[in-house]
Amino acid sequence: MDLYEYQARDLFEGYGVPVLRGITATTPAEAKEAAATIGSPVVVVKAQVKAGGRGKAGGVKVAKSPDEAEARAAEILGLDIKGHLVKTVMVAEGADIAEEYYFSLLLDRAERRYLAMCSKEGGMDIETLAVERPDALARIPVDPRVGIDQAKADEIVAAAGFSGPDAEEIARLLQLLGTVYEKEDATLVEVNPLVKTADGKIIALDAKVSLDENAEFRHPDHAALADKSAENPLEAAAKAKGLNYVKLDGSVGIIGNGAGLVMSTLDVVAYAGEEFPGSPKPANFLDIGGGASAEIMASGLEIIIGDEQVKSVFVNVFGGITACDAVADGIVHAFELLASRDERVNVPLVVRLDGNNAELGRQILAAANLPRLEQVDTMDGAARRVAELAAS
Ligand SMILES: Nc1ncnc2c1ncn2[C@@H]1O[C@H](COP(=O)(O)OP(=O)(O)OP(=O)(O)O)[C@@H](O)[C@H]1O
Ligand SMILES: [Mg+2]
Repeated sequence: MDLYEYQARDLFEGYGVPVLRGITATTPAEAKEAAATIGSPVVVVKAQVKAGGRGKAGGVKVAKSPDEAEARAAEILGLDIKGHLVKTVMVAEGADIAEEYYFSLLLDRAERRYLAMCSKEGGMDIETLAVERPDALARIPVDPRVGIDQAKADEIVAAAGFSGPDAEEIARLLQLLGTVYEKEDATLVEVNPLVKTADGKIIALDAKVSLDENAEFRHPDHAALADKSAENPLEAAAKAKGLNYVKLDGSVGIIGNGAGLVMSTLDVVAYAGEEFPGSPKPANFLDIGGGASAEIMASGLEIIIGDEQVKSVFVNVFGGITACDAVADGIVHAFELLASRDERVNVPLVVRLDGNNAELGRQILAAANLPRLEQVDTMDGAARRVAELAAS
């Protein structure tokens, strides 16, 4: 989960990382009031969107009075920055910047450790710096069992070319940022720019944090950071049921067991769809996992038929440890469960069962004689049929 700058700024503050005052606003009038509250001669009005390059897109503007802050907020609110509508700005205290630096700490999955990156040349597009002048960007591996201790912080700062009192102060700050990373279970902590002000203070001027959703169970407080308004309602409902569901744009609902099978089902359906008018495409990814119970099958069907774009559903199951007869029983019970919840499967369903006890599973489904359910024995055949149903 990516945080907004103001949320990351607040986290930093909680760990003692030096940040500037910042107040969020959702209207120009609120921005004016925020600027007056902050009271510094200069404030900066900053778009709060989960996208980089806000400055270049006109989303970061200086204001020298509360009235100016109001005017700048009016310009920034409602902007579209890389497909993100600006609904909130942060009015931040203005800093008198002498120098801009860069620091980030991230998860290096391939190397099974963290990677710290630091440069004396921050503020700008760090991706460009990394490509054009790789020497200017220090890259230091960090052992996750140790984190950024004094020695590691000194190493990073020296590699980036800092010395003297600045090096000491920045090393202190990097240790605090390392603590944020570890204690909050982050996968990214980035400060671009980290600045030195004209009076020599080191401050985190920008803040970007991504939190590891797999560690949510350790952080009940993180739920409050989720942006409910930006969440897809179907995905939120699926998450609440513990389902592995991703909403897509098409009209063919997909349920399968095993992420690999579901991924290839998406491909096969998209390919088969090209033969039919409107080229129907998958409406979602949904993996109900290995041991799919009737309950899980019912929950999955419920989510998928709740998607108004869905015109047909493909249940693609390869029986393994959970054999096809158990899955077939699950489907039958899912229909009963849905009926008991006063819901109907109101779109055609194409089921393909293969693998362990496939024949028995097919017999169970045939005997149940469920409305609008058809069986096709091959994956390609079933994909073609479900696409045809979506197109008709
Ligand atoms: N509080 C502030 N006081 C003075 N200058 C600021 C302040 N905040 C930002 N700036 C200036 O604006 C520039 C861009 O700000 P910031 O880094 O927050 O946004 P960005 O880099 O464009 O966005 P992103 O980090 O999402 O790509 C900074 O490099 C800095 O020069
Ligand atoms: Mg930045």
